[in-house]
Amino acid sequence: MTNTDRVVIRQPDDWHVHLRDGAMMQAVLPWTAAQFGRAIVMPNLVPPVTTVTLAEAYRDRILAALPEGSAFQPLMTCYLTDSTDPDEIERGFADRVWVAAKLYPAGATTNSHGGVTDLRRVAAVLERMERIGMPLLIHGEVTDPNVDIFDREAVFLDTVLTPLLAAHPGLKAVLEHVTTTEAVDFVRAHGPWLAATITPHHLMINRTSLFQGGLRPHLYCLPVAKREKHRLALRQAATSGEGCFFLGTDTAPHTASTKETACGCAGCFVGPTALQCYTQVFDEEGALDRLEAFASLNGPAFYGLPVNAGSVTLVRKAALTVDAVPVNGDRVVVFRGGEEMPWSIEA
Ligand code: NCD
Ligand code: ZN
Repeated sequence: MTNTDRVVIRQPDDWHVHLRDGAMMQAVLPWTAAQFGRAIVMPNLVPPVTTVTLAEAYRDRILAALPEGSAFQPLMTCYLTDSTDPDEIERGFADRVWVAAKLYPAGATTNSHGGVTDLRRVAAVLERMERIGMPLLIHGEVTDPNVDIFDREAVFLDTVLTPLLAAHPGLKAVLEHVTTTEAVDFVRAHGPWLAATITPHHLMINRTSLFQGGLRPHLYCLPVAKREKHRLALRQAATSGEGCFFLGTDTAPHTASTKETACGCAGCFVGPTALQCYTQVFDEEGALDRLEAFASLNGPAFYGLPVNAGSVTLVRKAALTVDAVPVNGDRVVVFRGGEEMPWSIEA
């Protein structure tokens, strides 16, 4: 094999996952734990993870559900609400229960109805986070139903994020799952305090993919995929090696019955194929030498954590991916599942 048929990188981390709870967590957790050393675990459970006690209990359930011998480390987050207490935020951070807090504008996405309705209500929380160096993770879409869904991220940058960052110039923040050229430019202009995660699916599909040959519910997620020019900007950003862009799969499992329906849930389940997808994208962009920065180095640098000790080897060896994961008599369909993908992970 030539050099470009085999890539060895430090063990990567996933800086944005939905592990859910109960039977769904049992079903999906092993896939993320198999590929990543650590993961930032989203708090949008029902009910959401809003307190130190809830976060500790959730962390314990994740650790208990891990496959035997797994060294996977869940990094917990706090779900911000209108009534989040700054002291509670600081206590969880000081006690190393959580590493960040997540801002869901109320109604923006799955299980976000308990999120923040008005940023003024969390001003004291953001001030505290700024002071203690705790990152704010942001779902960056406005919720106004009159704003076209394809414009909601770009409008958020102008109307919400610009004033938020101006009011909190020392706040570390991550604009999660960016989908537009506007977001990429915005993040570059606001580094190094602002960073962004980029998902595998937003690097691989555009909005036309959602309608290719018919409606494709398993490609529907939020923020929804945008035009091709945006996908190309995301690919350029991810493969640039710039420290402000890093890996976050936003793997968001929903059962087939809740996606293949008249009003389907938002979320792509990409946990089992994440590294295969990213490696393929970096290969297509001629940037395999920058995969490690994106997947394994930039995230820890932003969060102030050490890089992982181990390594992972990706090989150019076509392999059939798992098509779906069973759960409760139903199934969760995998992004690029059941396909022969050009890259695989060496055992
Ligand atoms: C996520 C989920 O299902 O929890 N869905 C999604 O489409 N990405 C929530 C989110 O990250 O927006
Ligand atoms: Zn998410």
